[in-house]
Amino acid sequence: MRITVPDIQLLKNNGQKIVMITAYDSFFSMYAEKAGVDIILVGDSLGMVVQGEENTLSVTMDEMIYHTKIVSKNTKKPFIVADMPFMSYQISTEKAIENAGRLIKEGKAQAVKIEGGIEFIDVIEKMVRASIPVMGHLGLLPQSIHKIGSFKVQGKEYNEAEEIFKSAKALQNAGVFAIVLEAIPYELAKKITDELTIPTIGIGAGPYTDGQVLVIQDMLGMNESFSPKFVKKYLSLEKMAIEAIESYKNEVKSGMFPTLEHSFRSKNRETISLYSVKN
Ligand code: KIV
Repeated sequence: MRITVPDIQLLKNNGQKIVMITAYDSFFSMYAEKAGVDIILVGDSLGMVVQGEENTLSVTMDEMIYHTKIVSKNTKKPFIVADMPFMSYQISTEKAIENAGRLIKEGKAQAVKIEGGIEFIDVIEKMVRASIPVMGHLGLLPQSIHKIGSFKVQGKEYNEAEEIFKSAKALQNAGVFAIVLEAIPYELAKKITDELTIPTIGIGAGPYTDGQVLVIQDMLGMNESFSPKFVKKYLSLEKMAIEAIESYKNEVKSGMFPTLEHSFRSKNRETISLYSVKN
């Protein structure tokens, strides 16, 4: 049975941490499920970590549906959240609901995530009324990269912090079931977490949120040159993968691989002689 919205709320109510991780394909989502994570986020971060783009802005609805479908098809237990990509919910409420519906109907997500606060309350209320669970996202909003200039910590100043806090309350009132808090000071994340009845899930938001999310490529160390303060690398996969591919290359070049150990045998001598006669 899949984890549900009430199960996630129960984790907060019981003081248990919520574990979320991103995944975009079959193997990583299967690994996440086997490791026992609560939520898989099919994030629009796929623009950066799968497609190699500079930011998330070019990700399309069709790409989000494609990856969400793969993740939901290859897992049974984790709750699946799909990101609403840039310009899929900003144009009109009708378009936003239609696109959210596609992620649920075609991608088989259980919820959608929307970046932004008070400005999207109307859209979020209508989605919730249409029985589409919505996860909020406050603090650093990667889809606003051209407005904010760089991926930097938000809410360090009083006014900014106040705005994020008010948005968090407004999102809860609008009916979101959880909120991602990205790159904000831990004191602000704690205040929001203490004040809200719904769970908060942090990334670069300190230890006092109800849960944590990391991009799977970041925590596996798949990019040695990307080491922001908020990421803990549990593996050095880039190094390990390059070393393994180098060993393979060297063994093929030197004739060490493949050996007969990795080869198939003919069934009997007659086959071999027949083969040698024909050739
Ligand atoms: O797209 C994403 O992966 C995200 C997480 C960083 C929260 O939104």
